[in-house]
Amino acid sequence: MAFPERFSSLPEYAFPRLRKLLDPHVPGAAPIAMTIGEPRHPMPAFLAETLAAHVQEFAVYPPNDGSPELLGAISRWIGRRYGTDVAPERIMALNGTREGLFNAALALCPQTKRGKRPVILMPNPFYQVYAMAALTLGAEPVYVPATEATGFLPDYAGLPADVLDRVVLAYLCSPANPQGVVAPRDYIAGLLALAEKHDFQLLSDECYSELWHIAPPPGALEVAHEVGADPERVLAFNSLSKRSNMPGLRSGFVAGGRESIARVRQLRAYAGAPLPLPLQRVAERAWSDEAHVEANRLLYVEKYVVAAQIFAGVNGYRTPEGGFFLWLPVADGEAAALKAWVETGVRVLPGAYLARDVAGQNPGKEYIRVALVAPRDETVRGLKSLRECLYA
Ligand SMILES: Cc1ncc(COP(=O)(O)O)c(C=O)c1O
Repeated sequence: MAFPERFSSLPEYAFPRLRKLLDPHVPGAAPIAMTIGEPRHPMPAFLAETLAAHVQEFAVYPPNDGSPELLGAISRWIGRRYGTDVAPERIMALNGTREGLFNAALALCPQTKRGKRPVILMPNPFYQVYAMAALTLGAEPVYVPATEATGFLPDYAGLPADVLDRVVLAYLCSPANPQGVVAPRDYIAGLLALAEKHDFQLLSDECYSELWHIAPPPGALEVAHEVGADPERVLAFNSLSKRSNMPGLRSGFVAGGRESIARVRQLRAYAGAPLPLPLQRVAERAWSDEAHVEANRLLYVEKYVVAAQIFAGVNGYRTPEGGFFLWLPVADGEAAALKAWVETGVRVLPGAYLARDVAGQNPGKEYIRVALVAPRDETVRGLKSLRECLYA
């Protein structure tokens, strides 16, 4: 059965597409999966004990917005991490950032702007839920190249004024999946000024914010505070999936201006699926502890270092500033993914599957995305095979 018409422009999702590309072929060696961004480092030790202590709370409906204790723990984390005060009323608990990035758009996007069809901006390539939100809302998704030429960040300010005047929401992902760049403070400040000038809101996807190796990436709430921006201009999304290696907990949050969060809360009061209370307790504990996050970060840093050694001398190789993906330049991403699978058994994702064709160009075409999520030894084996196979 086909999707309704509004989704007719959606390409097939990246992973079924990858299966179609690779599965008819026999892998060249024992498979190594480097495709999905599913963290595989240890979960924090307190998980089981916290869950056991609160198991009886599965007997009650969970608070929709998040328990006061969870919202308090997130508010204190934001204070420690970004040096800015965000009251618990300005935070909403989420089942991971993915649904929040979708539902916040539903709560915030008007049906028209100045009598015209609204525009939602997103980088290209990008995390696919952004496009789904725009299409669901009947807004026009505008895919803005985030390529080497633009420092791998979208140049929203370079769009024509008539497009900018229709923008209602702009997604930003920093550290960026898949390119691994971090948006600098002045870039975020510029975007906030643009949002003020053209009257739109920034949806800042920061779920990789804790995976970095040089300096903690600035957050949109932090920059908004520093430059004195209207707090309603920004909603920041974060998650325990990557920070705490608990993607299956499905726990995250959105924080922003009081009115915007009230609208997200209202939408969720009608149609949300709040996180079960025992899981909220685990989340509360996770946002209150940095030791497990530091240990996790070091494991990624080790892998960045070894990856840089393995790919030394490869033209265009960049160590990611954050996150856990390599965005490797190749002549053709699909051909490279197929070659890597057939010759070495390493499974990687063609960059084009994460991007949209715009005017006949796909900005992911000449890349593969490689996830550094497996334990170190497995990752090293996979990377060495890729180097030999694709860059000999
Ligand atoms: C850029 C980006 N945003 C959001 C998510 C969603 O993560 P979660 O819903 O687990 O918080 C992911 C997951 O891979 C991601 O890569």
